[in-house]
Amino acid sequence: MSYRNELKNEKLIKWVEEVARLTKPDNIYWCDGSEEENERMIQTLLDGGTFKKLDQEKHPGSYACFSDPSDVARVEDKTFICSRRKEDAGPTNNWMDPTEMKGILNGLYDGCMKGRTLYVIPFSMGPIGSDIAEIGVELTDSAYVVVNMRIMTRMGKDVIDVLGEDGDFVKCLHSIGSPLEPGQKDVPWPCNPTTKYISHFPEENSIMSYGSGYGGNALLGKKCFALRIASTMARDNGWLAEHMLILGVESPEGEKTYVAAAFPSACGKTNFAMLIPPKEMEGWKVTTIGDDIAWIKPGEDGRLYAINPEAGFFGVAPGTNYDTNPNAMESIKSNTIYTNCGITDDGDVWWEGKTDEAPENMTSWTGERYDPASGKPAAHPNARFTAPAAQCPSIDPAWEDPAGVPISAFIFGGRRATAVPLVYQAFNWNFGVYLAATMGSEMTAAAFGKMGQVRRDPFAQLPFAGYHMGDYINHWLQLGREIQNAPRIFGVNWFRKDENGKFAWPGFGENMRVLRWVVERVKGETSAVESPLGWMPRYEDIDWRGLDFTEEEFNKVMDIDTEVWKQELLGHEELFSKLYNKLPKEIFFMRELLVSGLWRSPEHWSLAPERPPVNPNID
Ligand code: GTP
Ligand code: SPV
Ligand code: MN
Repeated sequence: MSYRNELKNEKLIKWVEEVARLTKPDNIYWCDGSEEENERMIQTLLDGGTFKKLDQEKHPGSYACFSDPSDVARVEDKTFICSRRKEDAGPTNNWMDPTEMKGILNGLYDGCMKGRTLYVIPFSMGPIGSDIAEIGVELTDSAYVVVNMRIMTRMGKDVIDVLGEDGDFVKCLHSIGSPLEPGQKDVPWPCNPTTKYISHFPEENSIMSYGSGYGGNALLGKKCFALRIASTMARDNGWLAEHMLILGVESPEGEKTYVAAAFPSACGKTNFAMLIPPKEMEGWKVTTIGDDIAWIKPGEDGRLYAINPEAGFFGVAPGTNYDTNPNAMESIKSNTIYTNCGITDDGDVWWEGKTDEAPENMTSWTGERYDPASGKPAAHPNARFTAPAAQCPSIDPAWEDPAGVPISAFIFGGRRATAVPLVYQAFNWNFGVYLAATMGSEMTAAAFGKMGQVRRDPFAQLPFAGYHMGDYINHWLQLGREIQNAPRIFGVNWFRKDENGKFAWPGFGENMRVLRWVVERVKGETSAVESPLGWMPRYEDIDWRGLDFTEEEFNKVMDIDTEVWKQELLGHEELFSKLYNKLPKEIFFMRELLVSGLWRSPEHWSLAPERPPVNPNID
């Protein structure tokens, strides 16, 4: 029985009526989030040919689906921040006047749900009923979105109860933009192949998305709400909404340290969040709180506390396997939706890097017979799995604690073949903000764009900040002035390449060696030397048990090439001139200090052991 008749929230009732009048669906369905409803939704998707059932013994409760080739990733050039004033969106966002955008969208939405069902999805970002959680309601004509939102958020009738008579919510309107004429047969992945708009109205906490059914374009709780809209809420209320994983590190003594890390899309957040330390590093353990988004607020003690607003993982499939990420493999054993992976005749899924050899008799994500000789991959490079976070073996006992976990360190890292060393610690909060603001990364398949090209991706938030990036940087500086015992800030780069174009650092579980140094720096338990960029570990400051990595190899991944860095600083400059009118003055001064550091000869900061270690936390 639908709860519609008992519903008292006038704002919600009116909005649904208004949207239905405009979009003209055949039916309206109010999602209650129950198991039984989920089974019905899955059946609808199976009947319509969107879902293919996997072998239910190997993959209980799991399904595969395949998107239209025009709809495989976020569309950054079709993503808009429609603040009233253009300068509030800033030069790193697309902007359109809200009235003009609504004019366009209302034209497109007119009749766009004909022949379809309008689903009402009440959801909570964060544990239902908690003080820090925020409520959203997504209206969508996609059953795929419903089943994904059920995994990614806390969804259903309970949220309606919390909303009550006059509770507020973020309006998330979504349509695939593909109406059906009477008698017209549907396709497995309906979307609008030519027209897409992902629009945000920060002043009214609303989102309007049209034309795409994929990931961050369509699951509006994720990037649109929890990052773009939430970052503007956070700016106004003194907190942070970040593109960050959250993890816990347990030392052999049982001491726990929580760390949040921002890496751009498809740059290793899921892997790092679920890291399993090398067995030789006995007693070290990593637990997972979140793999993509962190909401971070100052607590009463002045420290920063983080929660994961999501309830599931929408993770990159290619490259995931039992060596690189066993915890992810365990998380996706059941109740998982696979989008754009290859599928074998006997109901298994596969993607590049899952096993060394591709299985026989496979259909690739495009529906063609997989042929390794064709050079075309079985899975799209941005193929994803949707899985409940609770299924992750490394999930932290506090992952749903409404109070959040206290953050002791922030790590920022991009995908850089050159220039950026494996790890360094910023001199202080302000230099850490500089490090984060100027981070560069090679583009990945997670967004349409120029793959491999290095772009500045401040805070890994370039596509996700809901307001002017200059104000964003200032907000971080300001927060640093207000909090107590500020987290230490670090830079990392797992992706440095050698002269043969191979990764020079083994990465994945071995990243624990870097993470150990990070948490010990925070606790003042290990030493470092000063470099032009910040504090760096010497070879002997890192735990090498069980890994054959020579000092020479280490020096290569830690190298700071002065000439390369002079170029790098020009890249910073390019960003700064873009943000000029809102860039905090501190940033210019810090740039000057970095330049002056680079002018010193390398002997001044060599990692050689004869150089006395310094510990700024103790000194
Ligand atoms: P989004 O979900 O898009 O925000 O990305 P994410 O940061 O969670 O990306 P994910 O962890 O899924 O990483 C995707 C890619 O990074 C995969 O191809 C991994 O194999 C690769 N990767 C992750 N960690 C490492 C590492 O330590 N070294 C190397 N070389 N590759 C890594
Ligand atoms: C990202 O691109 O950073 C993602 C995937 O996490 S999506 O939700 O599609 O944006
Ligand atoms: Mn992401």
